[in-house]
Amino acid sequence: MFITFEGIEGTGKTTQIARLKEYFESRGRAVHLTREPGGSRVGRELRQMLLHVDNADLTPITELFLYLADRAQHVAQVIRPQLEAGRVVLCDRFADSTIVYQGFGRGLDTAILKQLNEVAVDGVWPDLTIVLDIDPEVGLKRATLRNLDDGKAKEEGRFEAEHISFHRRIREGYLTWAALNRDRIRVADASATPDEVFARVKALIETHLPDLA
Ligand code: TYD
Repeated sequence: MFITFEGIEGTGKTTQIARLKEYFESRGRAVHLTREPGGSRVGRELRQMLLHVDNADLTPITELFLYLADRAQHVAQVIRPQLEAGRVVLCDRFADSTIVYQGFGRGLDTAILKQLNEVAVDGVWPDLTIVLDIDPEVGLKRATLRNLDDGKAKEEGRFEAEHISFHRRIREGYLTWAALNRDRIRVADASATPDEVFARVKALIETHLPDLA
């Protein structure tokens, strides 16, 4: 079973994914936790390239192909083998990030992005995608605090440095894209406490993946 989490910065994705991992493991399931960009060995190098503040001159197309390269490698070397080994794979961001950030965010054609994603994922689509939704002002405040806490601000601040209007476009993009893909993508309000948000996440799993819950 393959579950992905999406959302703007500071929605609490990382916290929720970690909790879901614990929840599944407490029920005796083997879980592999991963993320994009950077879920594979080569992907970790691509991640540095993509997120470093010094690389603000990456063109939107270059950025796109680096994310797709990261995804193709990640699916082939990590996600597919883990699924075949019977693990639940939880992934922090996946193909929908490309549609929303490079499409709704950077203005690339979402129909083309969808086709490129098909090439990159090679048939490995999530069974369920949960979009954690929050007001960008609140999300960015959380993300900035977290980055200061873990010393990430200087190294990986490229997206956090985008103007607030970019993050608003991203949020709207997620909501639009989720509405167009209701069979797979569900939205959870992430403005509440971590406990409340986790209750919503669990409810979505129970409804959409009852065999797992
Ligand atoms: P990360 O630090 O992992 O962000 P977060 O903690 O918010 O998940 O950085 C990943 C950044 O890369 C994030 O700003 C979104 C962006 N991104 C894309 O633009 N396209 C993609 O396909 C992916 C996977 C991520």
